[in-house]
Amino acid sequence: MGLNRAVNLADVREAARRRLPRPVFDTIDGGADDERTMRRNEAAFEDLLISPRPFADVATRSTATTVLGRSVSTPVLLAPTGGARVAHRHAELAVAAAAATRDTVYVQSTVTSYALEDVASVADGRAWYQLYLPEHRAQTAAMIDRVAAAGYQALVLTVDTAVFGGRERDRRNGTALPVRIRPRLALEGAARPGWALDFIRGAVPGPWQQIRGLPVRATQEQILASPSPVTWADLRQVRALWHGPLVVKGVLGPESCGRMMDEGVDAVIVSNHGGRQLDGVPATIEALPAVVDAVAGRAEVLLDGGVRRGTDVLKALALGARAVLVGRPYLFGLAAGGQAGVEKVLDLLHLELDRAMALAGCATVEDIDRRLVTRARG
Ligand code: FNR
Repeated sequence: MGLNRAVNLADVREAARRRLPRPVFDTIDGGADDERTMRRNEAAFEDLLISPRPFADVATRSTATTVLGRSVSTPVLLAPTGGARVAHRHAELAVAAAAATRDTVYVQSTVTSYALEDVASVADGRAWYQLYLPEHRAQTAAMIDRVAAAGYQALVLTVDTAVFGGRERDRRNGTALPVRIRPRLALEGAARPGWALDFIRGAVPGPWQQIRGLPVRATQEQILASPSPVTWADLRQVRALWHGPLVVKGVLGPESCGRMMDEGVDAVIVSNHGGRQLDGVPATIEALPAVVDAVAGRAEVLLDGGVRRGTDVLKALALGARAVLVGRPYLFGLAAGGQAGVEKVLDLLHLELDRAMALAGCATVEDIDRRLVTRARG
């Protein structure tokens, strides 16, 4: 299955699986421990059923909306993923460029291969920055200043990564980030020459690199801020230092929502890190309604985890999400086809959402509400 023939996100994943050495595929595809939460993220969408509205005038439709005041063509954003260079040497630059051509938002991870200024300039004003706090909190201010100066529009504080989850596939494969060529990978890479060549070319950057005609500096920067527990004091410090919209990523229940709003948080992302952190937590689509109720319109609520279909986007919006984010799907697109692969993933989701809206009787995203979905069981 090549990227050109891919008709859905499962096909894109398959195209990436064929191109990537197994340890690299696993480091993207895998989750924590028994991967129960990871599987549940996708499975829980199946437990929701859509009730279409006949007779709706859906001849003209739009998937456009706004997120934190910025318009996006489709309510599908690109989640922060560290170490994207294992998928493709253009890594964050290719993803940012795809976000720009498809008029959506890319959330750039702290764990990056390219200078955050370069990524921001390629994203053309469509980037948010995901922050892992530096171990020495005295450096937080300098980091946030740099993010602001680069032009990022929102800051996303990830709060579910006190330590890294138990990624057993990686331990079995001997993979660690940043990915280095070790004997097992060299062996597997030999059987995947397309990937190996790309990885090696990416490891020897010239002073200037061309991506789709736009010259950018390839500094191969690794800001490997080690994750550490985020406290209320940290949140308050970040809020005081960052003057734009502040987003908290990694919320799974209503408990802290009121206090977060009081502290000045503008949006929350219902996320379990794609099932890569604490195994055994609910699927995000299960956790969403209680968070939406607790936030009570005081902030925007987004969701990521297991979104693989336009109908999944529809269901998340119906349960109160302003937009969703995808992680693995665009990394697979990136692996299979660079910037064009990421664009393909966004195009497929856009097409599927548009079709789902037409069939469900929704001409605009404002028409998508809770009455549209019911629970299959229970
Ligand atoms: C992630 N995710 C993540 N989140 C974050 O806040 N900072 C990060 O650096 C990373 N890195 C990362 C790497 C890889 C390889 C993956 C797959 C994921 C989590 C990510 O933002 C998002 O929450 C999930 O990927 C969403 O789930 P799906 O769409 O992958 O099912």
